[in-house]
Amino acid sequence: MGKNINWSTFLAPYQQAVDELKVKLRGMRKQYEIEVKHSPIELVTGRVKPISSILDKANRKGIPISEIENMIQDIGGVRIVCQFVDDIYTIVELLRARHDFEIIEEKDYLKHKKSSGYRSYHVVVRYPVATIKGEKFVLIEIQIRTLAMNFWAINEHSLNYKYSGEIPVDIQKRLQRAAEAAFQLDEEMAKIKDEVQEAQWIFHQHKSNTHKKGGR
Ligand code: GTP
Ligand code: MG
Repeated sequence: MGKNINWSTFLAPYQQAVDELKVKLRGMRKQYEIEVKHSPIELVTGRVKPISSILDKANRKGIPISEIENMIQDIGGVRIVCQFVDDIYTIVELLRARHDFEIIEEKDYLKHKKSSGYRSYHVVVRYPVATIKGEKFVLIEIQIRTLAMNFWAINEHSLNYKYSGEIPVDIQKRLQRAAEAAFQLDEEMAKIKDEVQEAQWIFHQHKSNTHKKGGR
C-alpha cells in the first residue's frame, strides 16, 4: 500500500466484517431466546474507527501507513455486552468454538484490570471477507464486558476525550472508585444470578401467555 491510501477501498472490508459479525452474534442471542435459555449476550454493537482516529493512533504509536492493517487491531471493532461476569467466559467459549474466523489474540483485563480501572475481555480475530477480488482478511477486535463495565468504560472514554487523555488526578481517583463500585455491583449480581434468571424466565412465560390469549 502506497502513501496515497484509498480509504474507501481500505475500510470497506472492515465495514463488511463488522456488519457480518453483528448479524452472526445477534443470531446467537436469538437462538437462546428461541430455546428460552438465559442469553449470555445482552447486546451487540460495532463500529469502524474514523479515519482521523486511525491516523492519530498510527502517529502516537509510530506505525507507518503501510503497516496499519497489521498493527492496528481495532480498525474494526465489535462489542458484546452481557449481564453477568460469567457470561463473558461463556461468550469466549462460543467464539473459540466457531470456524468462521481465527482467534489470534486474547487479553483478559478482568483478571488483570488496567490501572485506569478498565475491565473487559478482548479477543482479536482474523476475519475473512469475500470481496470481488477474492478473500481479504481483516483484524477485528471483539470486546466483551458486562453492562456495569460498559457503563464505566463509556464514561471514562468520554472524559479521556474531553481531557485529551490527561484526566485530572482527582477525577482519575473518582473513576477508580467508580470502577471498584462497578466491580462490586457485578459481584453482588453474580450472587443473585439464579434468582434474576428465574424472574426473567417467569416474565418471559407471562409475556408469551398473554400473547397467546390475544392480549398485548
Ligand atoms: P489502544 O489502547 O487502543 O491504543 O491499543 P492497545 O494495543 O493498548 O490495546 P488495548 O487492549 O489496551 O486497548 C484496546 C481498546 O480497549 C481501546 O481502543 C479501548 O476501546 C479499550 N480500552 C483499553 N483500555 C481502556 C481504558 O482504560 N478505558 C477505556 N474506556 N477503554 C479502554
Ligand atoms: Mg491500550
